[in-house]
Amino acid sequence: MMRLNVPLLGEEEASAVARVLGTGYLTQGTQAAELERLIADLVGVPHGFATSSATTGLHLALAALGVGPGDEVVIPDFSFPATANVVVQQRAVPVFVDIGLDDFGMDPERLEAALTPRTKAIMPVHAFGLVADMDPIMTIAERHGIPVVEDAACALGAEYYGRQAGGLGTAGVFSFHPRKVITTGEGGMVMTADDSLAERLTVLRSHGAVRGERYMSFVDAGFNYRLSDVHAAIGVVQMGRLERILDGRRSLASELSALLRQISGVTPPVTPEGRTHTFQSYVVLLDEELDRDRVIDGMRERGIETTLGTYGMHLQPYFRERFRIDDSELPGATRAHRSALTLPLYEGLSADDLARIADALAATIRDQRG
Ligand SMILES: Cc1ncc(COP(=O)(O)O)c(C=O)c1O
Repeated sequence: MMRLNVPLLGEEEASAVARVLGTGYLTQGTQAAELERLIADLVGVPHGFATSSATTGLHLALAALGVGPGDEVVIPDFSFPATANVVVQQRAVPVFVDIGLDDFGMDPERLEAALTPRTKAIMPVHAFGLVADMDPIMTIAERHGIPVVEDAACALGAEYYGRQAGGLGTAGVFSFHPRKVITTGEGGMVMTADDSLAERLTVLRSHGAVRGERYMSFVDAGFNYRLSDVHAAIGVVQMGRLERILDGRRSLASELSALLRQISGVTPPVTPEGRTHTFQSYVVLLDEELDRDRVIDGMRERGIETTLGTYGMHLQPYFRERFRIDDSELPGATRAHRSALTLPLYEGLSADDLARIADALAATIRDQRG
């Protein structure tokens, strides 16, 4: 079976972990600090806070911004539900905005109408590694004085008019889950250029504690969201592979798109002017009359693992029962929820493998159309 993704890992990661184990110092230390420095340098911001996942990073960012009960956080509807869950965890209310079907990102034209006096943050998502259309989003946010947290879980190394994802908003959060651009097993990082936010992130990431003269002093009810040095050591090695990973994914994506453009019923991913994509996931949009789930079955029968793009969150049981949003209010996200399809993409796929994916997809669609 051809898998969706295989992370690029080598002996160097194993040795780096062994070195950390050999020191006997396993919690957050020099390796996490090094990973933070490497990523802060890449993004071009002064602060990076390694966390145990992007989910804890997003939660930490919202808590540090003071998002609390009754506040609203505006997010795109089409995302991995962690984006909405962290809002709920702060007892705040997620407000779902529709997406555009070209970039699968928050539609800036629908953003303003979603703002209310209770809006405490805007959280655009860089879907599958393509930066959301940040300029209009930032313009609206600044006009209203609302902070922006980029859910950049999939977008390490993606650019928007020459600026790095994760450094465009008030804060930005990356994921290092094995299906992301680089991995630490589980892990994430919060980026910011805002010094006072950085202070809050420092305190809240580690139990709400500050160093006192003799003992720790607990000035807030914080979390333990630190990334261990065991994990961070993997990330430090992975950062040395970042350029190769991104180049590899981009060139495979462009070859695959050239093949898929020949197939009717399939729209390959687009990279709008001024933006670069990480292709953390390679996601196509199928024509509406095709049954995406049957396409997934057909691909599996042909030995190729595929999956949905990501989730229309208003369609998930918790959010559906709580908010009862009609599909007609979120047509883009609803369509993407039903018709987006992730195909395999990872280093090691040959030209023949790409042709096999394209042939299998063409045959599956042909079967379905009868
Ligand atoms: C857009 C988005 N946000 C957040 C997350 C959560 O990341 P993590 O698994 O590191 O908590 C994911 C993971 O799939 C994601 O795709």
